[in-house]
Amino acid sequence: MEDKRKIIMDVDTGSDDAIALVMSMLDEHFDLLGICSVNGNIEVKLTTDNSLRVVECCDKQEEVKVYKGCDIPMVSTLMPWTPQSTGIRSEGMKDSPMPNPRREGTRAGDKEVHPEHLPLPAPVIREADKSAVVWLIETLLASEGKEITLIPVGPLTNIAVAMRADPRIIPKIKEIVIMGGGHLVNNTSPASEFNVWVDPEAMEVLLHSGCKITMVPLDATHAAYITVGESKRIRAIGTKPAVLIADLIEQRTVGYAQFDAEMNEKQGAPLHDALAVCAVLYPEVLKNVLHCNCHVDISRGYAYGQTIIDRRERVHPEPLNCYFALDADRELFYNWMVEVLEKDKARRGL
Ligand code: BDR
Ligand code: CA
Repeated sequence: MEDKRKIIMDVDTGSDDAIALVMSMLDEHFDLLGICSVNGNIEVKLTTDNSLRVVECCDKQEEVKVYKGCDIPMVSTLMPWTPQSTGIRSEGMKDSPMPNPRREGTRAGDKEVHPEHLPLPAPVIREADKSAVVWLIETLLASEGKEITLIPVGPLTNIAVAMRADPRIIPKIKEIVIMGGGHLVNNTSPASEFNVWVDPEAMEVLLHSGCKITMVPLDATHAAYITVGESKRIRAIGTKPAVLIADLIEQRTVGYAQFDAEMNEKQGAPLHDALAVCAVLYPEVLKNVLHCNCHVDISRGYAYGQTIIDRRERVHPEPLNCYFALDADRELFYNWMVEVLEKDKARRGL
């Protein structure tokens, strides 16, 4: 039998994270070793709670554990002049509760895109009794050769902290497929994408690590938008995970229509994080992929959090540290989701 792809999901669940989690649990080509939660779309206690809800929705509570991760970014909250610094405190520090960057400057549509609670029952299961960073280090060190692929689809804090705490994990990582960054498409400022903007120093740690990195930026995820019309076929599958995905596509479409003129016209929304999951098994879903040098602006000006890719054709180019996708195959992505959800239905004997 063909070997399954060993993966670890790192999420800030989050509606598109939820779709990514469903796909990582239901595609039988994956061996999902665990889920790490992180601060991002909402506070980490909520991203953890939402991830547990998704695990139960997929009936995977016996197999998949959720590890609670970092509750603030690595460095940026120490800088009083950064856009997200005001009042942010780690849960363990005085003066909690901690406001979330997304909630600080709430934009019309944000609450529909990432509600605090997913439309699922409160979870019965609890997170594991170990922090995500410790579990990541232990799991990678115990693995043989390069066999584990990391799929971070939230701010990169957990992985960067793990790399800093124990660099011996770096040569153990097979590949890191990241939903993050943007070249011509951005969402949090004219220059930056949300996951990178929340913790730009963490993204830089990864880009300097020497690991094989594939970036699935907004340029690719927006090209792979899914429409409300297409969600109807997913809803018709009728299983709990399929209905959840259809609900989330509809909810995201309502949200995007309030701030994104193109998505409003298309009556759809990008499912960013799920595209990164698809790209692990089907790299051809990413199109116009540049092998290039990429770094993040951490200089705290207008371009703060920007992923800058070097497209100059140099005789002696800068080190090529990532694959950066500028486009995607929307049809392949949609068909993959439908096929995986239908197979799951058949497996359940429905
Ligand atoms: C990314 O930011 C989050 O809002 C989404 O979950 C996705 O990971 C898109 O910029
Ligand atoms: Ca996310």
